[in-house]
Amino acid sequence: MRIAQRLGLAVGAGLVVAALWAGAVSTATAQNSQPDLSKVTPGEALPVKDVSFSFQGMFGVYNTAAVQRGFQVYKEVCSACHSMNLVAFSDLGQRGGPDFTPAQVKAIAASYKVPAGPNNMGQTTDSNGQPLMRPAIPADHFPPPFANEEAARFANNGALPPDMSLLAKALDDGPARIYSIVTGFNLNPPPGFKVAPGKFFNPYFPGWNISMPPPLTDGSVTYTDGTKATLDQEAHDVATFLMWCAEPKLDQRKRIGLEVMIFLVVLSGLLYASYRRVWRDMH
Ligand code: HEC
Repeated sequence: MRIAQRLGLAVGAGLVVAALWAGAVSTATAQNSQPDLSKVTPGEALPVKDVSFSFQGMFGVYNTAAVQRGFQVYKEVCSACHSMNLVAFSDLGQRGGPDFTPAQVKAIAASYKVPAGPNNMGQTTDSNGQPLMRPAIPADHFPPPFANEEAARFANNGALPPDMSLLAKALDDGPARIYSIVTGFNLNPPPGFKVAPGKFFNPYFPGWNISMPPPLTDGSVTYTDGTKATLDQEAHDVATFLMWCAEPKLDQRKRIGLEVMIFLVVLSGLLYASYRRVWRDMH
């Protein structure tokens, strides 16, 4: 019986691991009813819109073209206010992610300026007190749009645009939430709801008042791959890019999960076969 018990234990453990894993990678799709704002508590963020992404589900992977387009949206629009401190230019070459070639990564890096550090006279600023700058190299991280938090708040009516490195993981339903917020500016507040001065109405953001002006409209970018730049497309692409930023190893994690599953199934089979063999003559 001991072997049988162990076998039972192994298979049981395997099933538990499998269930946990499947639960962790499957992404619940939230409903999107046309929001009837008179029926919900004012200020309570609406559930995310019903939007799906290539990276969801057990076998989901990043769509490289979408990640690249999303990077273009980040670079040309969002990076004016949102930093991305944890991402280095070299990360943009990642296979299964943006997958830019080394030459492209170099060119992208060189289009940014970063503080140069002391020159050979020991100076770090020019005669106007501005920091000396040099073009970035792949090993550099994305430079922030503002010198510090005070400057960021000053430029944004007191609000701080959050760093985008981990935003897609920090928010519940991250990519869908990002998508819903940036496409969620076109609604009218219900009667009686006051939009605070200098803020914008957005029922997908907690409180329904957001300090971010609508960042995207149709044609905010001209995609280098020729894709039509509708608001919906841009929002979907930038949400994809930000998910990759926050979880660059997602593909790898899913692949390892799958390999573990296959391993467990094979192991269970082997254990069962050896159990049969060990107990063959014992009836
Ligand atoms: C003009 C500056 C500006 C630009 C450009 C901008 N944002 Fe923002 N964003 C902000 C500010 C400020 C906040 C904080 C809002 C608040 O706290 O009310 C914010 C907040 C957000 C939030 C909500 C974060 C949270 O914690 O819930 C999302 C999502 C977001 N921005 C996405 C984007 C995306 C995507 C882009 C580019 C397409 C973009 N933003 C471009 C200023 C900007």
